Amino acid sequence: MRCVIYTGAGGNEVVEVVERPDPEPGTDDVLLRVRYAGLNPADLQQRAGRYPAPPGAPADVPGLEVSGVVERCGAGARRFVVGDRVFGLVGGGGLADRVVVHERHVALVPDGLDEREAAAIPEAFLTAHDAIRTRGRLVMGETLLVHGANGGVGSAALQIGVACGARVYGSVRSEAAAQLVRDLGAEPVSDEDFASRVTADVILELVGAPHFPANLEALAPRGRIVVVGVGAGPTTELSLLAMMQKRAELHGTVLRARSIEDKGAVLRAFEREVLPGLAAGRMRALVDSVFAAAEAREAFDRLASPGKAGKVLLDFEG
Ligand SMILES: NC(=O)c1ccc[n+]([C@@H]2O[C@H](COP(=O)([O-])OP(=O)(O)OC[C@H]3O[C@@H](n4cnc5c(N)ncnc54)[C@H](OP(=O)(O)O)[C@@H]3O)[C@@H](O)[C@H]2O)c1
Repeated sequence: MRCVIYTGAGGNEVVEVVERPDPEPGTDDVLLRVRYAGLNPADLQQRAGRYPAPPGAPADVPGLEVSGVVERCGAGARRFVVGDRVFGLVGGGGLADRVVVHERHVALVPDGLDEREAAAIPEAFLTAHDAIRTRGRLVMGETLLVHGANGGVGSAALQIGVACGARVYGSVRSEAAAQLVRDLGAEPVSDEDFASRVTADVILELVGAPHFPANLEALAPRGRIVVVGVGAGPTTELSLLAMMQKRAELHGTVLRARSIEDKGAVLRAFEREVLPGLAAGRMRALVDSVFAAAEAREAFDRLASPGKAGKVLLDFEG
């Protein structure tokens, strides 16, 4: 297989594209011929040596999400047949033209959705859905505030919030990003003065510490803050008194480190509540840019730059 590897810890100088033997599917796995793979900030953390691959995933091949075609099934894998178009989450090793994945961690790509858009869906929509619906318990008539609204997870969260019947705000720091928020049916607010403009039942934090303590000011009584990303800083000072007075809930969550069963349950909830909207075109995964696999370094540079509109993908057949 052709795959992106990290030869050590650092910047793009440790990124190479090499040939390796294809991986072998385990009993409950499927082997996929990957068409597109999505890039994630976690891949940059792994490149820097700060986020090692979990047990069972290749140590030096990054990549958390793919779309492609089932090429072989493990002896106990029953959900798919060879030739099925699928997309989903891998614990690592996704930046490769072949990857093995537990059969519970992929879903069929609906007719009418191409593999390019499908690869932009898993991390963004699964993370967003799990955070705002399962952890945050957002329901119709409530207000959702999404920080980091123009990125992959943020643009998915805005749409899931709108589909729930919530009033949705997205915080951004450029006019282009504000327009994207409007295009997705939500209202843009500034990254700096949101607390004076919004009272939110659920706040999805994709940026990190700089939004505290303003997040507590913007929180409605009995509101829920769900922290999913801390790229701008993980440490803050928080008034426990303000938490008590708001009867606030603070949740933190990660997807990658979860058990096979737990991740499978996240996939099934997504299939029930989100995939029909994507299949019918009521929601869409935003693709910021697509790079050939050989241009992995340029793709990582784009991933790290501000002002993206959705996901950065690698094309393994282009
Ligand atoms: N916990 C989990 O399981 C999980 C899963 C997926 C993602 N994540 C995390 O969630 C975060 C978002 O992921 P993503 O894929 O959506 O990333 P992304 O596409 O790169 O988007 C990042 C978003 O954050 C904003 N942002 C970045 N730095 C900022 C700063 N200093 N101040 C204000 N806004 C800032 C960006 O705005 P600009 O365009 O203006 O820079 C953009 O809207 C990342 O930290 C990622 O690691 C966690």
